[in-house]
Amino acid sequence: MHKVLISKEIPAIAENLLKNEGYLVTTLNSDVSLSPVNNSYLKQELANTDAIISLLSDQIDQEFLNHVPNLKVISNFAVGVNNLDLKSLAANNILVGHTPGVLTEATAELTLGLMLMTSRNLYRASLDVYEGRWKGFEPLGHLGPGLFGKNFGILGLGRIGIKLAEMLKFGFQGNISTISRGEHKDHNLKSTINPAINLQIKNHDDFFSDLDFLILTAPLNFETKNWLNSERLQKLPAKCIVINTGRGELVDQEALYLALKNKKIWAFGTDVTTPEPLPTNHPLLTLSNYTVLPHIGSASIEARTKMAEICAKNIILGLKEKKVLHSPIPEQQI
Ligand code: DGY
Repeated sequence: MHKVLISKEIPAIAENLLKNEGYLVTTLNSDVSLSPVNNSYLKQELANTDAIISLLSDQIDQEFLNHVPNLKVISNFAVGVNNLDLKSLAANNILVGHTPGVLTEATAELTLGLMLMTSRNLYRASLDVYEGRWKGFEPLGHLGPGLFGKNFGILGLGRIGIKLAEMLKFGFQGNISTISRGEHKDHNLKSTINPAINLQIKNHDDFFSDLDFLILTAPLNFETKNWLNSERLQKLPAKCIVINTGRGELVDQEALYLALKNKKIWAFGTDVTTPEPLPTNHPLLTLSNYTVLPHIGSASIEARTKMAEICAKNIILGLKEKKVLHSPIPEQQI
């Protein structure tokens, strides 16, 4: 009988599908984390596990794989795969699955929500009501820039970035631009994106100067790690609001702190941080122009349910037919 380990409780559809196949399924309690492997209960569980549903917070590298000699399939409960050492997994002949396509809308709409939350001060305005500071309608209270007709620059025009571009173009009549990634990649992008979006592909020097919003929806890889560094932050105009729903590591947080503190950019709203969770005494949390959410981009009921379903199906197919529904391509946009 195949044994499947689930890193943390996910929507029940996954466990049901796996049990229907007759597999023995164990879900770890929330107080046990899959990696690093540092307790004897976990070591025992892993020793005879055939397949794992991992989370983006689990580091699946060679050190981890040494504990799982029978592992045949890793099924990541995410579209991003930066927590997986794909080279080691391939070297160990382990199939890898992930969940693209089903969290596109959920993440794009959360990005839009976070843009409004950051620009229109929704969190702090609401808090003023809860904490008794709101004394009545204030003509100059909680003012912030709107979204309509603005210049939006997007780094990472994969599924999520394109869906967001559509929302901003057709919902807010925005001007959408991205940064050139070279002729071949730009051509591929142009051929997949709706021409009515009128995407401007700009070179590095022209991209930053007139942005009202810079939105990061890129995957984390060697090209994008620390992409928003002090040099690029300095290129942004003071009116610019930066939004990150990709990965925390896309941003140099020390440089960001200085830029926000010195009002070099207007504000920063993020769903992702380094580390996660961000310690509550982190300097960024002292800044009123910093807004943070707890990595909830895909947290719609619909998206998380479909992610769980795909995770289970990746495992079933992997164990039965040595293939998965969706296997990651390392440099692919999310
Ligand atoms: C992903 O899937 O990569 C998101 O960050 C979490 O759902």
